[in-house]
Amino acid sequence: MYLPRKIIAITTLSVTVVAGIAAVKPANPPDTNFKNLKVLPKNIPSKDLSRIMVDEFQDDLGVSCNFCHAENKDTHKPDYASDEKPEKQIARVMMRMTMSLNKKYFKLKHPVIGDQALEVTCATCHHGKPHPDNTDVQ
Ligand code: HEC
Ligand code: HEC
Repeated sequence: MYLPRKIIAITTLSVTVVAGIAAVKPANPPDTNFKNLKVLPKNIPSKDLSRIMVDEFQDDLGVSCNFCHAENKDTHKPDYASDEKPEKQIARVMMRMTMSLNKKYFKLKHPVIGDQALEVTCATCHHGKPHPDNTDVQ
């Protein structure tokens, strides 16, 4: 009678340990697929990155992905990690400027692009246009 009870105890213990590991595993593991992030956090979850690219960059500037992203010459598919297009480099400068405006003039402690708490966003100036200027105020 001693041996079976010991086996039951061991089985129960291992089930508890497995359940414990499952509980500490993050629900949304960080995405490490991105190769060339210089302003956004390198471990940004892919759904957060997509939301920034679609809802902020694409919609706020009124452009498509290929306004900033170059195409791979062989596959003719977008090469999102490439820095070939100057618009992508300008966008990084704009991201840094936007964060510093929020920090310096609106006193946000840790402004990050995509944060709903930002006072100034791409849309503040761009209003759905890639190239805002002061000649077409309606
Ligand atoms: C206004 C310019 C702009 C537009 C429009 C834009 N992006 Fe981006 N995208 C960037 C910049 C800048 C980065 C790099 C950010 C950094 O360095 O932190 C980037 C990074 C990315 C990355 C990560 C690439 C890597 O591996 O490093 C992906 C994926 C991506 N964009 C997808 C998209 C998609 C999909 C769209 C269209 C829905 C889009 N982007 C529209 C500027 C843009
Ligand atoms: C304070 C106002 C302001 C904010 C905020 C701002 N921009 Fe701009 N952006 C401008 C102006 C003005 C221009 C045009 C500069 C010029 O005339 O050359 C511009 C130009 C650009 C261009 C170049 C367009 C082209 O035709 O070559 C890109 C790309 C761009 N912005 C992306 C962004 C992104 C992405 C954000 C948000 C992270 C952003 N901007 C936030 C004012 C702003």
